[in-house]
Order: sequence, then C-alpha cells, then structure tokens
Amino acid sequence: MTNMKEQLYAVKQRAQEALDLATTSEELEAVRVRFAGKKGELTALLSQMGKLSPEERPVIGQIANEVRGFIDAGIRAKKAVLEQAELNRRLEKESLDVTLPGKARTVGKQHPLNKVLDEVKDAFISMGFSIASGPEVEYDYYNFEALNIPKDHPARDTQDTFYFSPEMLLRTQTSSVQVRVMEKTQPPIRVISPGRVFRIDEVDATHSPIFHQIEGLVVDKGITMAHLKGSLELICKKLFGPETKTRIRPDFFPFTEPSAEISISCFKCGGEGCKFCKNEGWIEIGGAGMVNPKVLAHCGIDPEVYSGFAFGMGLERMVMGRYGVDDIRMFYENDVRFLNMF
Ligand code: DAH
Repeated sequence: MTNMKEQLYAVKQRAQEALDLATTSEELEAVRVRFAGKKGELTALLSQMGKLSPEERPVIGQIANEVRGFIDAGIRAKKAVLEQAELNRRLEKESLDVTLPGKARTVGKQHPLNKVLDEVKDAFISMGFSIASGPEVEYDYYNFEALNIPKDHPARDTQDTFYFSPEMLLRTQTSSVQVRVMEKTQPPIRVISPGRVFRIDEVDATHSPIFHQIEGLVVDKGITMAHLKGSLELICKKLFGPETKTRIRPDFFPFTEPSAEISISCFKCGGEGCKFCKNEGWIEIGGAGMVNPKVLAHCGIDPEVYSGFAFGMGLERMVMGRYGVDDIRMFYENDVRFLNMF
C-alpha cells in the first residue's frame, strides 16, 4: 500500500513538472493524454487497485481522486493561461494602426456618351421634340425596304449588315425608327431617336461594329429645307457653343430628297484647320435631308399635304470632337482613368 501511495504522489509530481513545462495548447494536450488519458499513467496505476485489501482500497481511492482532481485543475488553469497568452500574441500581431491613411472610395462617373446624349435630349426636348425608340433587332423592311432601299440597292453596300435571316437583321441605322413612328402617328411629328446601331466593321481608332446614332424627324404642313438648316444650327450652337458654324452640303440618301451632309466648324481650331479636323476646319457629324415623298407615302402619310425633314448624327463623332478623344475604343473599354477625365 505504501508503494501504491508513493507511486500516486510520484505521478502527481511528474504531472506538475510537465504542466510547468508546457508552453503551447498542443503540449498541454500531450500532458493530459499522458497523465489523465484513458491509457495514461493514472489509469495504469489504478488498474492495480484489485490487488489491494478491502481496507486499503478506500484510502488509496481517495488519494487517487485527489491526484486526478489536482491534474484536472492544473490542466484547466494552464489552459486558461495559454489561451490568454495566445490571444495577446494575436492581438499584438493584428494591431490596428489608426494613423494609416484610409481606403479611398471611388465614385462612379457618368459615361461621356451618356453625358452628351443627355444634353442632346434636353436640347431637343426644349424645342418641342419627344423621344422615340425602336428595336435593335429589326426587320429588313424597316431598316431598308421602307426607307426606299430595295434588296439590290447599292446603298446597302455601304452598310455591311449583320443578318439573322433574309428578313431579320441588327439595325444599321436609327432611320428604321422613322418608319415605325410615321406608321403609327399622323403629323405633326417631332421626334428624336437615339440608339445603338450595328455594322460589320474591323475595330480601329475610328471604327467600331457597335456605335450610336441620334435620329431626328419632323413632319408637318409646309416644312422646308430652311427648317432643317435652322434647327440644326440652333441645336449645334446649343451643344457645341455659340461660335459653332453649321455647314450642309449635297449628299445622297435614298430616303431623303434632297439629301445633305452635316458638318460643324472644328471644335479644336474653330475652322482654321488642325490635325483633328485633318486641316479641313470642318467635322462631319451626320446626314440629313427632306423626307423622300415615297417614304412618306409608304408610311401612310400624304406627301401632297405634308413634308418633313430628317437627320441622323453619330454620337461618338460628336463626343470625340467635343472632348478631343482620338480613339473610339476608349468609349467601350470602361477604363476608369478615361471615364474620370470627364
Ligand atoms: N441613316 C444614315 C446613315 O446611317 C444617316 C442619315 C442620313 C439619317 C440622312 C437621316 C437622313 O435621317 O435624313 O448613314
């Protein structure tokens, strides 16, 4: 019995030493397994209790309990100490430096195409126009046929078209909306229709297979070329500044007669001639003309009673000119450094 007692106290002593040496949670767990585990030193010793006499058993049992209690309490205490130390270490490592500069939040910007488009819309709305829209996936009929461009018309060659089928295509021009509006509305008509158009084209600094046009249409009694020129002049001065001059020169479009090319004096040099306007002093921004009577008739409007003018302007062109952007690709890349410049 003395032997057993001594061995129990020896276990207690060794446990105390091992506890003192443990410096991490893993080491502490090893101590627990070694002394208080199912195959630990204490269990091994207690398995010999059967050899003791009935009188000895309670005495030794009490000492064994005391040793177990001691080991359990020691482990719990050490565990708390180690956890606190680990927490302190982590807090120290993860400490917050409140003097560091904060993270800047970037604020979104309106895209330059939308910015100018909003101005264009406002300018036309102030002149009594309303906004019309039409589908991007369009019938050949609205994009070509009804605009006096039949199947084998050479004008189709200038607008390389994405076809889905012989009847369906991606619209190559917003002029398609003219037809849709006239079909549904009797004059007076005063609308603009901005939107995306599509043409098969290699991407380079001045070409993109997707770009934007702003279509305009006015139909009423007694509309003449003078109304067209006056409206364009007014709108261009509003958009590009009071100094802006507008030039119209003869051109050809099947849906207008007569037809014109619209140019404005160069934003950069004011008409002197510079690199941007290729020394011409003028920048072409679109086409226009008096609505061809054939088109009016086709849409159910009597050309004997009514006349109209129409125009189509390239939005990218206008924005590039206004801000001196020399590569159309910049508009579609969404580079915030570019967008932040406006
Ligand atoms: N749709 C023509 C184009 O994309 C531009 C145009 C010319 C529109 C004359 C018109 C117009 O409304 O009257 O090239």
